[in-house]
This record gives sequence, C-alpha cells and structure tokens, in this order.
Amino acid sequence: MLGLLYDTPADWAPRVLERPAELLLDHLFCERKAAAMAAHTARCHGDRFPVLRGKMADLAAEELEHARRVEGFLKEYPPITPVRGGNRYAQEIRRLWHRPGRDAFLDMLLVMSLIEARSAERFRLLADHARGSALGAFYEDLYASEVHHHALFVGLGADFFGEPAAARRLQEMRVAEAELTRSMPAAPRIHYL
Ligand SMILES: [Fe+2]
Ligand SMILES: [Fe+2]
Repeated sequence: MLGLLYDTPADWAPRVLERPAELLLDHLFCERKAAAMAAHTARCHGDRFPVLRGKMADLAAEELEHARRVEGFLKEYPPITPVRGGNRYAQEIRRLWHRPGRDAFLDMLLVMSLIEARSAERFRLLADHARGSALGAFYEDLYASEVHHHALFVGLGADFFGEPAAARRLQEMRVAEAELTRSMPAAPRIHYL
C-alpha cells in the first residue's frame, strides 16, 4: 500500500521506544515541519492549482493537531535538550526535488508523499510495539492519518501532472528514498534507524 522499497528492521521500534522523550521531541519537530510545509505549499502553489488552498489548509490543521498531541505526551517526561544538527533524512530527501530539467513541483509533491509513507510505516511499528498503552493508541491514529496523507500527495501528483508521469517519477524516488533510509544513523528519531 505504501510502496516503500526498504523495510525498517524489526528491532527499530523496541530500540527507539527505550528513549521515548527523545523520540517524541523529534516527532514534534516533524509534525510542525509538516504543518509548515502544507501552509507553504498552499501559499506558493495555490494560484497555479487552486484546489491546494483548501486541501493544504486542512492538512496543516491536522498536522498541528498531531503536534499538540505529541506535546501532551512529552509533558509526562522531564525536559530534554533538542538534538542539534537538523534532520538529515529531511535534508537529503529534499535534494530529490532540486534536479534540473524537471517540474520541481511534481517532485516536491512526491517527496512529501514519501515522507508521509515512511512516517506511516514507522507509526505502524510503534503502534504494534506499544499496543495497549495510550501512546500505542496515539501511534495507531497517526498511522491511519499518515497513510491518508501519503495517498493525498500521490493523488495530487497524478491529478496535476498525469498518472503515468507521476507513477514513473514516484518509482524512481522510491529507489532513492530506500537507499537514503538504509544509510541513516541509529538514533531515537522518527526517520533514523
Ligand atoms: Fe502528522
Ligand atoms: Fe502527515
């Protein structure tokens, strides 16, 4: 369903859940970034594709709600210092849409679809591992939500640029995303190993 070409190893969820506050803090940044990207997309591309205005406003609101819920869980732990150095996964995957000779907006939509897909895959693993707890139920909700977001971006790519072109480019990007994810360092972060 998600079409990812690299499966996160089975020991990932138990490992990262050993340091829940660090995982939640990184997750909080991911949700805020997703909300900001949705707002940016509406602002920068809403004139060319007006349907984006409503869809991206709804998405930004949903991502901010996720962030608010993450903050609620984070309050249960002593404060921790944020990890410095940015998010390597986000930095590197975004390079995929700066290739010359392409419509960068198709690439951007597809990169966002892959970030959502990888998040969904990870939330599925977290939900399974934390089943029966409030955190497990939260990850279960997020899994369903991020699966929808993945489909939303794939659908927009196909609507705006045609299904064959979008599907072809998505497949190329899946290969690159799999390579990138496989190369991530181990750390209690949503998109790391
Ligand atoms: Fe989210
Ligand atoms: Fe999302």
